[in-house]
Amino acid sequence: MKTYLVTGGAGFIGSNFVLYLLKKHDDIQIVNLDKLTYAGNLENLKDIESDKRHIFVQGDICDEKLVSKLFSDYSIDYVVNFAAESHVDRSISDPEIFVKSNVLGTVNLLNCAKKAWQIGDDQFREGCKFLQVSTDEVYGSLGAEGFFTEKTPLDPHSPYSSSKSSADLFVKAYWDTYRFPINITRCSNNYGPYQFPEKLIPLMINNALQHKELPVYGDGMQVRDWLYVEDHCKAIDMVVEKGSLGEVYNVGGHNERPNVAIVKTILSYIQENVDSQVSEALIRHVEDRKGHDRRYGIDPQKIKDDLGWYPETAFEEGIKRTIRWYLEHMDWMKNVTSGAYQEYYAKMYQNR
Ligand code: NAD
Ligand code: DAU
Repeated sequence: MKTYLVTGGAGFIGSNFVLYLLKKHDDIQIVNLDKLTYAGNLENLKDIESDKRHIFVQGDICDEKLVSKLFSDYSIDYVVNFAAESHVDRSISDPEIFVKSNVLGTVNLLNCAKKAWQIGDDQFREGCKFLQVSTDEVYGSLGAEGFFTEKTPLDPHSPYSSSKSSADLFVKAYWDTYRFPINITRCSNNYGPYQFPEKLIPLMINNALQHKELPVYGDGMQVRDWLYVEDHCKAIDMVVEKGSLGEVYNVGGHNERPNVAIVKTILSYIQENVDSQVSEALIRHVEDRKGHDRRYGIDPQKIKDDLGWYPETAFEEGIKRTIRWYLEHMDWMKNVTSGAYQEYYAKMYQNR
């Protein structure tokens, strides 16, 4: 039986990953360590409430005592580190917490895992692995042509992407220095169930359903490369099982779209299927994000060739599935957008 320490497993991708793993593998145990920040939500894990293979622990990845205790209480084989502050706009107004959770938290996890797994000088327990879930944003911004490969130099622009790049460099350093067993995955923009509505797709769905304005930053022609969250989960699972130690794998499905096209796709689905009053008149171009990266585009050839990964959900299908999920989970949306979210939203958008 393999034991996973999944961090950030009550957030968007982490909770999808926990659900994916439990469905895919019978003989596993998951220790899920999550601080439950504004972005973490136990409701995301409601379907596995009574599954004994899942153990939830509320806590901070920066807490050395707690993380060490988890390594001594459980025989952890794999660490999959999702835990992070993940929103670029928040990193622009409050960078420090990004350094704490994303950089110092990752280094603390690396240290605790190294202590637990080390059996000799530069020797670690057979079969253990630390997987750092990173992002295409570490590569910076592309022009109209070309894609990010694993060899593209790191060139982060936002405090968020700088913190993720720093964490990646520490993870790489543990491989280069100690031969500590690692992989890094760098994925493009995810979408799907349980995404917090500060991010483009759930925010636009929620606003459109309430006939609220849809704030498109700048000209809306910035390009993101969208991947259905389950395809990302599948990639991480494959890298844990088959990734060559020390390697970085880019994950993406060649699904590039300008932001305004995404917004229009959402509007037309809602107009046709849910509410004929919803229209493009709701779109409002607002002040651009500072330092806004113009285009991301992932070259996923390495993970395809080396591990046989491929994306299964075409964007046209994935976006419909996603909108329907939010429609069927209006209570979830209502809960996560009550209280502190209102303050966040007012601060973020009222003066734009
Ligand atoms: P999210 O913000 O939805 O979830 C983050 C989770 O981490 C939350 O549950 C939160 O409570 C938890 N967390 C935050 N700080 C913590 C700490 N100090 N200790 C313990 N738990 C903590 O984020 P997401 O979109 O699910 O992203 C997950 C990971 O994937 C992040 O590392 C992010 O950089 C990376 N990533 C995200 C995307 C994307 O499109 N969302 C794409 C590529 C990579
Ligand atoms: O590329 C992977 C990254 O994708 C992850 O590492 C990050 O954790 C994740 O948050 C995401 O970052 P983005 O900044 O690309 O995602 P976001 O949903 O915030 O924005 C997507 C695009 O839409 C971006 O160009 C900004 C724009 N946008 C966003 C919001 C929230 C708008 O135009 N209006 C908005 O209200």
